[in-house]
Amino acid sequence: MSGAASPERMSPIITFASTKGGVGKTTIAYVLATELARRLASRDGSAMPPRGRVTCIDADPNRTLSQVLGLTDDALITCVESDSERLLGDLRHAQSESDLVVIDLEGTANQAMLYAAGKSDLVLVPAQPSRFDVVEAVKTIGVVRKAADLVGREIAHRVVLSRTPVLRQRVADHARAQFIRAGLPLLPVELVQRAAFQSMTYTGTPPYRQEGGEQAAANVASLTDEVLTIIGMRLPQVAPPGDPRPIPEPVSARGAVPRFRVFNRPHEF
Ligand SMILES: Nc1ncnc2c1ncn2[C@@H]1O[C@H](COP(=O)(O)OP(=O)(O)OP(=O)(O)O)[C@@H](O)[C@H]1O
Ligand SMILES: [Mg+2]
Repeated sequence: MSGAASPERMSPIITFASTKGGVGKTTIAYVLATELARRLASRDGSAMPPRGRVTCIDADPNRTLSQVLGLTDDALITCVESDSERLLGDLRHAQSESDLVVIDLEGTANQAMLYAAGKSDLVLVPAQPSRFDVVEAVKTIGVVRKAADLVGREIAHRVVLSRTPVLRQRVADHARAQFIRAGLPLLPVELVQRAAFQSMTYTGTPPYRQEGGEQAAANVASLTDEVLTIIGMRLPQVAPPGDPRPIPEPVSARGAVPRFRVFNRPHEF
């Protein structure tokens, strides 16, 4: 049975937020939504699953997420264009219609960010490995804390590093240390800088469907596992077409050795 049909458990909401533009919100929202949709389809094993298993709410007036999802035309993803006035109503509707909701926000602190954070199970704050982004991530998490105060509960949040170099670099290690020193909780998987993540914005083809996109797809799969662990949802990885090997169970982020270093080895990604 789909989570959408269960009155006890509301569909989880994952929000991408940052007070700064261009940090990778839409990129990660897109790869996460397309990966979640294919896992949901594979879990149910239905030939024709109902439309709208993942709802993406694009609350950025530039409508970047909506445009790329339009190119992808995935029957399992519904995209709703929203704004701060309509956001709460759109969220209520999305939760009743789908298994998971992903919100992509504008790169600025605004009312929509406060509303989205207040309703979220997880707020992800993408940031590039730079000192400027540490400062902006601190501001963004400040808004998440205000939202938590407003709604009277903890709101899980993580900084997710984006566009990190494939080859391990001292400067990127230094940047990671700065995020940790600023008390910012880091997701142990980063989104590496890859051409596959750029070309998909023109073609609407997610990495797992791209020729030569295997390493990017594996990066997305690991990132999705970490997100699912935090929101307490179990959706196993989907094997690449023609690969008979079983997919290993995801390793919990808690207690595990931080895995972000692995993603800087060229043979891994
Ligand atoms: N991992 C990556 N590898 C390669 N390019 C990337 C990666 N992540 C983001 N980019 C590129 O960086 C740019 C900014 O990314 P994106 O649009 O996702 O950021 P954003 O936070 O949504 O920006 P905005 O606040 O303007 O909406 C885009 O050109 C995108 O293609
Ligand atoms: Mg964006």
